[in-house]
Amino acid sequence: MSEQWWQRAVVYQIYPRSFQDTNGDGIGDLQGVISRLDYLELLGIDAIWLSPVYQSPNDDNGYDISNYEEIMSEFGTMADMEELIAEGKKRNIRIIMDLVVNHTSDEHAWFVEARKSPENPSRDYYIWRDPVAGQVPNNLRSTFSGSAWEFDEDSGQYFLHLFSKKQPDLNWENEKVRQEVYDMMNFWIEKGVGGFRMDVIDLIGKLPDQEITGNGPKLHEYLQEMNAETFGGKDLLTVGETWGATPEIAKLYSNPQRNELSMVFQFEHVGLDQQEGKEKWDLAPLDLTKLKEVLSKWQTSLGNEGWNSLFWNNHDLPRIVSRWGNDQQYRVESAKAFAILLHLMKGTPYIYQGEEIGMTNYPITDIKQATDIETINMYQERLALGFAKEDLIESINVKGRDNARTPMQWDESANGGFTTGTPWLHVNPNYQTINVKQALADSSSIFYTYQQLIALRKEHDVIVWGEYELLQTPTEIFAYLRSLGDEKWLIACNLSDQSQALSVPKSKEIILTNYELTEVPVGEVTMRPYEAFVLKV
Ligand code: NOJ
Repeated sequence: MSEQWWQRAVVYQIYPRSFQDTNGDGIGDLQGVISRLDYLELLGIDAIWLSPVYQSPNDDNGYDISNYEEIMSEFGTMADMEELIAEGKKRNIRIIMDLVVNHTSDEHAWFVEARKSPENPSRDYYIWRDPVAGQVPNNLRSTFSGSAWEFDEDSGQYFLHLFSKKQPDLNWENEKVRQEVYDMMNFWIEKGVGGFRMDVIDLIGKLPDQEITGNGPKLHEYLQEMNAETFGGKDLLTVGETWGATPEIAKLYSNPQRNELSMVFQFEHVGLDQQEGKEKWDLAPLDLTKLKEVLSKWQTSLGNEGWNSLFWNNHDLPRIVSRWGNDQQYRVESAKAFAILLHLMKGTPYIYQGEEIGMTNYPITDIKQATDIETINMYQERLALGFAKEDLIESINVKGRDNARTPMQWDESANGGFTTGTPWLHVNPNYQTINVKQALADSSSIFYTYQQLIALRKEHDVIVWGEYELLQTPTEIFAYLRSLGDEKWLIACNLSDQSQALSVPKSKEIILTNYELTEVPVGEVTMRPYEAFVLKV
């Protein structure tokens, strides 16, 4: 297969609610995104993954869609959306839509109809079951706590919702549902979008009666059908959100021979700081040896039969600099180290808004400050189970989704320049020092490291296509080689706040560093806290 545009691309994720408000209602909007396209062009990205902008009652901030072909009024209009696509095109930035088709909102017309009666022609668009011995049909749980079954008084049946009860699951076994989804996708393709990020796509083949949710038997059949009916052969980027994927599963999705998706998001590394077999809230320290093992396994096992997505952050995850870096003394160094570590790997990198300026988590002291449904439901459920308040707040501060969702910090003016109104979610008070304006004014800022990393990928085949080899080093140093033909690059990152020793037998040239280096490191090298460098060797 010849090279595809998305194999050399870097994608930037925008969470529109928190990106840029232009009308003073405290909520980001599409005109806000348009107004920042020049900034993104300067960064050098090729595509924007736009979190959902469709009509939604916002029970889960747009991941509960009530109309797939209308824009959320808080964000603007369809004309704004068309303008965004066109303005993006002018700057070679494609717009990747968030495709949320495992479920809709309960306010979607299909569900409003389906709920009317068991005989309604739309009833079978969703998943309904009778009570079993007067109880829920089975033990399936919602990701947002509690049973995944909600009782519908009128019909005496339960419907399935793997997320909130305002997000009923679509019944993918129904051919009409699939056709509706494909028609909607074609509507967006005709508008000129650059592809789709597919929300929890691993769940669409579920077998609820057998309590199977991810990786159901018909999943890949549906994706092949979707490919043929919509984006197949159209040069679009498609990326599936697939929580339980192993490399073998990732190949099923992304092997070009199979005509499914371009790539998937795998989450194995994301689970490395939680207690085994428990939930994300059950905290454990990160084991760096495991991080190396997991990422290296993904680097080496896909070969030509799949393609990686590379990411530390998104709107569901805490900020990497706070999570595994050091957001105090070594904020700049550690943010750059994690960027360098990831962006020199094989795959398509994703940057989440604010990551490029080293935005940090924003701890809360009381549950009243939380807005996210996942956090609030978990807190209530665990409190009732007897967990201590302080422990729950700690878990929320480490893992909660609001951390990544605080408004983008543009400058030192009120609310970080995000809004002139009252922001929908608190702005991190560190906006006075951490903001885009400062970053652009400082040639040694995190922003310029990201800019360089993106530019390097455009220029050097070794980053896109080179072989990957993990090096044996002290635990705290993550080092690997990329090689293509005669070209060999060494990437070394000290992921600790202590100096560490590394032996560099040979080196020719410095490609990139996050500390000032006066000469090319060679021999027994001392890496300073969070020091990272890329060397031609
Ligand atoms: C994954 C999305 O990234 C998350 O934000 C959302 O809550 C769930 N899917 C449900 O759509």
